Amino acid sequence: MAIKISKIGVLTSGGDAPGMNAAIRAVVRTGLYHGFEVFGIMRGYQGLIEDEIVPLDTKSVANIIQRGGTILKTARCQEFYEFEGRKKAFENLQKRGIGGLVVIGGDGSFSGATKFSQEFDISCIGIAGTIDRDIQGTDYTIGFDTAVNTAVEAIDKVRDTMEAHDRIFIIEVMGRDAGYIALHSGIATGAENILIPERKTNISDIITSLQEKDRRKKMVNLIVVAEGDEFGGAEEVHKALVEKLPKAEIRICILGHIQRGGSPTCLDRLMASRMGYYAVQCFLEEKKNIVVGIQNDKINYIPLEKAVKAKGSISDEWMKIVKILAS
Ligand code: F6P
Repeated sequence: MAIKISKIGVLTSGGDAPGMNAAIRAVVRTGLYHGFEVFGIMRGYQGLIEDEIVPLDTKSVANIIQRGGTILKTARCQEFYEFEGRKKAFENLQKRGIGGLVVIGGDGSFSGATKFSQEFDISCIGIAGTIDRDIQGTDYTIGFDTAVNTAVEAIDKVRDTMEAHDRIFIIEVMGRDAGYIALHSGIATGAENILIPERKTNISDIITSLQEKDRRKKMVNLIVVAEGDEFGGAEEVHKALVEKLPKAEIRICILGHIQRGGSPTCLDRLMASRMGYYAVQCFLEEKKNIVVGIQNDKINYIPLEKAVKAKGSISDEWMKIVKILAS
């Protein structure tokens, strides 16, 4: 018979996302409520390997729900890709008697957790935390709502100056493999073109429509591009446009890591709190190796190994809406 888990650890891994603190708080407080001892692991898997593990109590997570970043810090850990690294990590958990691990992160963090739980006697529960919103099986990932609202606020400001000068602006938002931030922020700011990795970018179509605008002397145009667009980011798009539109005033704005910071929105705090609560619930119900997601407003448990990148899941309907509204 499996020994009941009495001690759990929590870590944040990969790119940070606003709302991760709210999730840590929920895990700690729910864990303590149910009588678990809770430990925080610093700097993700790196801290697990280097034995940076600290006990957490209810006060340790006071006054953090509104804060961006992560009090546990985070890292992208190369050593955890190696069996030796994972072995060290397990030994550090084992010597404290920690039998359950909550991993707050994205698909890379989950694939590490999948291997870890297959090789060692440890139950890993994931919480989807990434601004990219690209995990299979969940409608939300912690941080997306904040990131997209940050992008919208910034793009609105750029639009003011763009309109004042009759310029073309290419704004690059984050999303190495996913276009959700670009799609949502682009629609919400009335972008004429939204370029995302999930769709082929037809640069000649964009150039033709801009040449047409030029003829009508209406050279104002907002292009939102995801950094991972298959054609390239803002710099590449800029290069292609200036070549064909030498007279146009074309500017670039790369929003970058500003999208990862700041106080989480109400929605991110709510989702993080809910997911954190259910992550602990999993240990109580002896559920193993799953990711807590939310689909159609219901908790959805995704097997860890299936919590991979949601590639190409942006619907054609959205793309049609973009096209019609920009016409
Ligand atoms: O995964 C989240 C994310 O912000 C991506 O959108 C972006 O491509 C990447 O992280 C940037 O990572 P880093 O901060 O390590 O450069």
